[in-house]
Amino acid sequence: MMGVVDTFVKGRDDVKLTIALSKGRILEETLPLLSSAGITLLEPVKSSRKLILPTNLADVQVLILRAQDVPTFVEQGAADVGVTGKDVLMEHGGRFLYEVLDLGIAACKLMVAEPINYQAHSRNLRIATKYVDITNRYFAEKGAQVDIIKLYGSMELAPLVDLADKIVDVVDTGNTLRANGLQPTELIMKVTSRLIVNKAAMKIKHQAVNDLIQGLSHAMRSNVN
Ligand code: ATP
Ligand code: PRP
Repeated sequence: MMGVVDTFVKGRDDVKLTIALSKGRILEETLPLLSSAGITLLEPVKSSRKLILPTNLADVQVLILRAQDVPTFVEQGAADVGVTGKDVLMEHGGRFLYEVLDLGIAACKLMVAEPINYQAHSRNLRIATKYVDITNRYFAEKGAQVDIIKLYGSMELAPLVDLADKIVDVVDTGNTLRANGLQPTELIMKVTSRLIVNKAAMKIKHQAVNDLIQGLSHAMRSNVN
């Protein structure tokens, strides 16, 4: 099998692959997979302020973005491929890109959570979340009327100061919920990070994209074994 390295080493100068990565925990878990697939960053991402990073392969570069912005860059063709959470993809909509690989990293669950001493009431539920569309869809399917309070972080705080009745947020260990007197009550979806591909790049840069998919798939299998 021809690897992504071979594709680039063998002089496909017309193919420049731009990979959009989510900074933070997804980046930390993506870099080892990329490395196993033959792509390494030329400088340490933590100490660099650069947002476009060169790699060991002259024709592959990496963009460092917020997870929520990765689908936008990939859809618009500013990046050919990207890695972001399934939660972000569901919230974004992602109609103009292909989701090609479940990387199995940054695993967590999108959940509804409420105070341990939560008392039900008859008015509309107030839900604090950054996942406005997912939350609206979820409660609409249950036939429940909710008022969404859009926040950008620290969702767990909202019920503690009576800004909201419940929250919708990602949960991993449950430590953040416990530390704030909350408990998870409903699972909305399981979340892992996905490799996404721009629709045009899938055609025009088929060989390079396919080699990356194969390289990452192989890296995932090696990690499991
Ligand atoms: P920012 O920190 O830039 O405001 P963010 O809080 O969404 O954005 P992260 O916390 O790194 O950034 O989360 C990015 C993605 O990682 C999430 O969309 C989700 O897919 C996954 N994720 C978030 N929290 C956890 C967690 N505690 N454990 C595992 N994966 C998580
Ligand atoms: C995420 C999420 C939760 C926490 C859940 O926050 O928003 O607060 O992780 O993880 P746990 O169940 O293991 O405690 P993160 O650490 O990314 O901080 P931020 O999103 O508020 O920046």
